[in-house]
Amino acid sequence: MELPCPDSVPRREFAKAAVALGGTAALSACLGRDGDPSGDAVDGGPLDGVPAGDPGDAPERQHAWNDALDRDDAGNAVPPTHHVLRYADVDREDVTRAAARERLEAALTDLERAFDRSPAGLLFTVGYSPSYFDRLSGSLPEPVDLPAPRPLTGLEDPSFDEADALVHLAADEPAAVLAADEALFGAATAANGVAVTDASDLFDPVDRRTGFIGSGLPREHRDVDGIPDDAPIPEGAKLFMGFSNGFAESQATEDRVTIEAGAFAGGTTQQVSTLRTQLDAWWSQESHAQRVAKLFSPTHADEERVGEHGERLGNDPAVADLPEDAVAYAREEGVVGHAQKAARARENGEPRLLRRDFPTTDGDHTGIHFLTLQESIGDFVAVRDAMTGADIADETGVGSRINNGILQYVFVRSRGNFLVPPRALRALPDPNPRDEP
Ligand code: HEM
Repeated sequence: MELPCPDSVPRREFAKAAVALGGTAALSACLGRDGDPSGDAVDGGPLDGVPAGDPGDAPERQHAWNDALDRDDAGNAVPPTHHVLRYADVDREDVTRAAARERLEAALTDLERAFDRSPAGLLFTVGYSPSYFDRLSGSLPEPVDLPAPRPLTGLEDPSFDEADALVHLAADEPAAVLAADEALFGAATAANGVAVTDASDLFDPVDRRTGFIGSGLPREHRDVDGIPDDAPIPEGAKLFMGFSNGFAESQATEDRVTIEAGAFAGGTTQQVSTLRTQLDAWWSQESHAQRVAKLFSPTHADEERVGEHGERLGNDPAVADLPEDAVAYAREEGVVGHAQKAARARENGEPRLLRRDFPTTDGDHTGIHFLTLQESIGDFVAVRDAMTGADIADETGVGSRINNGILQYVFVRSRGNFLVPPRALRALPDPNPRDEP
């Protein structure tokens, strides 16, 4: 992949390309474009306008980002714009566990010192996979539910992400994610003017995925495969499908997704499915009303509840107040909506997933890194079953893919499950930390 000429494309397009490329060349190009004549920031010097942080302020829960996020006019949390997912194996051959753990913890604390814990600075989590824990002695304590990933529908043949660790880096400023990425995984010895302990030898990077979320970005980045170049994505939309997501009332709270008991209390589970979307027919054959019906519900389409891209929904897509018997509904309407189906998995009326997904053009193709947090992976499986709606397809004229929400347009490429421990255990945890001498 090559960076476009900085002067030939808008700033946001250049920023997205730089995050996708990664490395010091991308960081340097990013900074060059924004005017860093000294070049200091490429070597870990201060980044213009990126605030430093205080590790003392960090909460116990790594995933407690909501307090740090801005809210839009309707009160919905606004996620950071740029995202990097670093999958890495952990090298534990040459170092004693305690020394390695200490060094990784020092590096992570340095990052918290270098960047304010906010979208203006940097938000991050570190998670560990079932394969990581399997290689250590002991087993994860109750109630942690972290099975190995597996196919979850009859419609998919995914690969499995079995890297030991997943680091999720997120920030509004592309240079901030790039600098943090270089300090943790590359050769940089500092970030944003703060020295960062070198722990790069502990991680053996196996994959790097990237994405972005924000109003207008899908429209700007539609010149890739999987979508017509002139797809009429509304300016305000956050998704390549032309709408926005993440409405507050459809999201689980951070409390709901937090593991409550045991050694990993304060942690959460993280599931990442990499989804490829094929949206040519979505944009060339479906009307706006059909798109609303398939993504939200036919009632939303009939009553024009959504608006151009979701601006009429406020903070609540109101999918839970639709007829509860989705099977009867689908039989009557001939179509069932994605969000309406997924809402069937709510528990006591409350959503179970905190979705922090973001669109991507990795591989020059439209897709979504569908990252969710939930108390247990079982929660995710239950919601995914509800979204797949095999029961609906079996019992109505609705197909297993066609007219069954957005299934026709979404293809699962990979699945991975991770445990995001509480902050105190984020550096190379043992399966059962309480058993340690
Ligand atoms: C291309 C992929 C996807 C797109 C574009 C998409 C888009 C959306 C949109 C626009 C909504 C309604 C607004 C909101 O976020 O509150 C929604 C809701 C939801 N989606 Fe998806 N989604 C995708 C994949 C998935 C997958 C794979 C799951 C898996 C389980 C899922 C689960 C949910 C849930 C649980 C809700 C909220 C339902 C409730 O209110 O209880 N989505 N999605």
